[in-house]
Amino acid sequence: MLRVEVELGKRSYPILIGSGLLEALGAMLRNNLLTETSALVVTDSNVAPLYFEKTETALRRGGFARVAEHVIPCGEDGKSWEEYSRCCDALLRDFPDVGEVPVVVALGGGVVGDLAGFAAGTFRRGVPYVQVPTTLLSAVDSSVGGKTGVNHGNVKNIMGIIYQPRLVVSDLATLDSLSEREFRSGMAEVIKYGAVCDAELFEYLEANLDILLARDAEALREVVAECVKIKANVVQQDETDTAGVRIVLNFGHTIGHALEMAAEGALTHGEAISVGMIAATNLGIALDKCDEDDLLRLDRLLQQTGLPRTARVAEASAAKIMASMRRDKKFQAGRNRFVVPTGIGKWETVEDVPGDLVERVVRACLT
Ligand SMILES: NC(=O)c1ccc[n+]([C@@H]2O[C@H](COP(=O)([O-])OP(=O)(O)OC[C@H]3O[C@@H](n4cnc5c(N)ncnc54)[C@H](O)[C@@H]3O)[C@@H](O)[C@H]2O)c1
Ligand SMILES: [Zn+2]
Repeated sequence: MLRVEVELGKRSYPILIGSGLLEALGAMLRNNLLTETSALVVTDSNVAPLYFEKTETALRRGGFARVAEHVIPCGEDGKSWEEYSRCCDALLRDFPDVGEVPVVVALGGGVVGDLAGFAAGTFRRGVPYVQVPTTLLSAVDSSVGGKTGVNHGNVKNIMGIIYQPRLVVSDLATLDSLSEREFRSGMAEVIKYGAVCDAELFEYLEANLDILLARDAEALREVVAECVKIKANVVQQDETDTAGVRIVLNFGHTIGHALEMAAEGALTHGEAISVGMIAATNLGIALDKCDEDDLLRLDRLLQQTGLPRTARVAEASAAKIMASMRRDKKFQAGRNRFVVPTGIGKWETVEDVPGDLVERVVRACLT
């Protein structure tokens, strides 16, 4: 088992990474000073039949006397204001007595983690929660750093809070049941870390893509640990995303999020981010921040991973994408802001990019 610390003073917590950790979940909570005896496991309709029973057994074995379950619909629809409200209903119904503090266990991908974390952070102004990521994307990204929330009014992640989990338990054995498409989608975030934060990781991915795509346990463990180390380091410097550091993790996300919403479910988060990274790199080239060679390497790695570099979104949607980007949280006081690579493993933010240039790179990635 590998252990990575997220150092945030009183809000510090460990990330545990290994295979078969779910069986020992209850004991791990105890070892990490969670003394509560009740839990609400929030999970989705795909993950529940696969891993709820195992989770419940492990929690009971660790001394949790009461374990309730709340299942949300799978997919991005689970991350809505309505589902947030349903999750609050479940918390209120199962734990009406303020004397009983439940631990919320987010068992699933990024959708479950974002929703459950938001509910945990707002129920009675905050009860403890634990992230148990079951997708590659959530293992390397969303389970760490405390960003939680839901989509609203067709804007991604517009309602939310930063609320850190008490523990992250990443059981990589759960990735075995992940579909090929979702696994590759998670690889988009892995490639993101290499592309703008760590040239060595990028080279490792170029050299070892085959074994990673074959889900080799050893390679996967190393790569997940490397990614969460990068994320922990970024979050430690800029937990609230206000110091201009955490924004690096949004590489590919400004255009990617807008695309994801415009595609209305046709693209996974990782697929949209893949296209978004190509668009952002094209922006970097146009602004003389990086060169064609960087784009070629990124494009090749994404292609070999089986990720899209262009998206089929109806013509009418180009305007919708531009409009939805203007509502992006990363745009401050009406000025746009993008993360662009300045070479593999390096980055910069650019602001006030002319609208016609943005539109050009967006249109270039639509087919
Ligand atoms: N909070 C953050 O910092 C952060 C960072 C990145 C992404 N996100 C968010 O994360 C979400 C995407 O996360 P995701 O890609 O994990 O999506 P997801 O949670 O929708 O999971 C993808 C699919 O895989 C299924 N699934 C999950 N685990 C499985 C398993 N072990 N076996 C079989 N099927 C399984 C799910 O039911 C779902 O259908 C987006 O909403 C995105 O905005 C948040
Ligand atoms: Zn992402």
